[in-house]
Amino acid sequence: MSSHTLDSKVTRATLERMKRDGDKISCLTAYDASCAHLLDQAGVDVIIIGDSLGMVVQGKESTLPVTLDEMIYHGACVARGAKRALRVVDMPFMTYSTVRDALTNAARLMREGGAQVVKLEGGARMVEIVHDLTAQGIPVCGHLGLLPQSVHQLGGYRVQGREQEAAHAMLEDARGLEAAGAALLVLECVPATLSRAITQAVTMPVIGIGAGPDCDGQVLVLQDMLGITPGKRPKFSRDFMSGQTSIQAAVSAYVQAVKDGSFPAPEHCF
Ligand code: KIV
Repeated sequence: MSSHTLDSKVTRATLERMKRDGDKISCLTAYDASCAHLLDQAGVDVIIIGDSLGMVVQGKESTLPVTLDEMIYHGACVARGAKRALRVVDMPFMTYSTVRDALTNAARLMREGGAQVVKLEGGARMVEIVHDLTAQGIPVCGHLGLLPQSVHQLGGYRVQGREQEAAHAMLEDARGLEAAGAALLVLECVPATLSRAITQAVTMPVIGIGAGPDCDGQVLVLQDMLGITPGKRPKFSRDFMSGQTSIQAAVSAYVQAVKDGSFPAPEHCF
């Protein structure tokens, strides 16, 4: 049994303790109060109000058009529904390209959007920004591997860090983000061996999506794991609705599968 109960609020310290104790962290995205409440009831530890909402809520082709006001709106909706899970809100594309912008916009996400942690994409180039946000009392979640906001630079939604040099750079990026004060790290579409090495190299909790079983926790986009995202389901996701009679049961099955290590299975990994 994990050392925290379903009554106690999840904090950064809770997640650090879970990492130390080897208790897996369950995380899902949500964008509205009803789903956030349901996730909270099912024992999801972390809710990411991701800019993936641009694709799964707004039907856009990428996350790039999502605005700060939209993130604030959805963050505030989730904050009204979720009382226990830690809420991480994405900083949208180009809202943190300078320290000044990052501070101003992260402050709005916290004040108006109910963020308890802000998430931003990138490695070495983010170190100064992570340092300055942290120094102002704003907890930051880093995001390495596949960076959806850089999809045009990356040339598509592809696994990252397969080559030795890229893998080494990602490990150094993770260390740099931690040294700058990052509280959490998301690793997206990364070979399982590399995410294991990164997870072991840092003390901040690492949450994987398509990053193998050895991260400290797992995250999926809610619509993907409910099997309602139009088109092909990503390789790293699983339809947890299959065989269940309610969304609540599907989310509980996901939480259980993350906690007991049965998700992700080898077929979900790179
Ligand atoms: O935008 C998003 O939803 C995310 C999670 C999948 C980690 O970044």
